[in-house]
Amino acid sequence: MGKVVVIDHPLLQHKLTLLRDKNTGTKDFKQLVKEMSMLMGYEITRDLPLQEIEVETPICLTKSKALAGKKLGIVPILRAGLGMVDGILELMPAAKVGHVGLYRDPETLEPVEYYCKLPTDVEERDLIVVDPMLATGGSAVAAIKFLKDRGATNIKLVCLLAAPEGVEAVQKVHDDVDIYLASLDERLNEHAYIVPGLGDAGDRLFGTK
Ligand code: PRP
Ligand code: URA
Repeated sequence: MGKVVVIDHPLLQHKLTLLRDKNTGTKDFKQLVKEMSMLMGYEITRDLPLQEIEVETPICLTKSKALAGKKLGIVPILRAGLGMVDGILELMPAAKVGHVGLYRDPETLEPVEYYCKLPTDVEERDLIVVDPMLATGGSAVAAIKFLKDRGATNIKLVCLLAAPEGVEAVQKVHDDVDIYLASLDERLNEHAYIVPGLGDAGDRLFGTK
């Protein structure tokens, strides 16, 4: 079973509180999502392989560690996932970015695919799927399935908030996927919004409501 990691770093938790606040406007919301994604990126890359290389300091020649060049991919689930790309990309600028477009049908709450564009060598890359919200889990389950159907084998899911129902849904279908969160919230409400949550992540990021 994939692990569920709730990252309890004080900076991350502080920023999450600001993000939840309904009075936080679009500009700050966007900046906070970026900063939180960067902080989470630090934790999710803990297991990246290193190799020793030679480097010449101003004093002498020495051996020092460098990333072993693992190929990475960041896959935001559109639209709200876009807000998490830049923060992670700043930490790992060589990563390629693929996009999966899904929206939740407001009647059925089922995810509907409207866009998919991935790096051509997606099957060779370790993929980090990003979406601020894991609610019913329908979107994440579908997005991960698209990636697996195209040959991806090593996938991590990074969300700011999750409901227990969403975590369970992902684990049920994709038990090989580790899930990283800033908070595991209480539950879903009758409209499948996360409680206490932060409202509609896409609308708050892009100012559409
Ligand atoms: C939100 C969110 C997730 C999805 C989570 O996107 O960003 O993708 O809902 O819900 P689920 O776990 O029940 O599938 P939304 O469908 O509102 O689209 P948007 O990102 O375009 O706003
Ligand atoms: N999507 C959101 O943006 N927020 C929720 O609480 C649930 C799904």
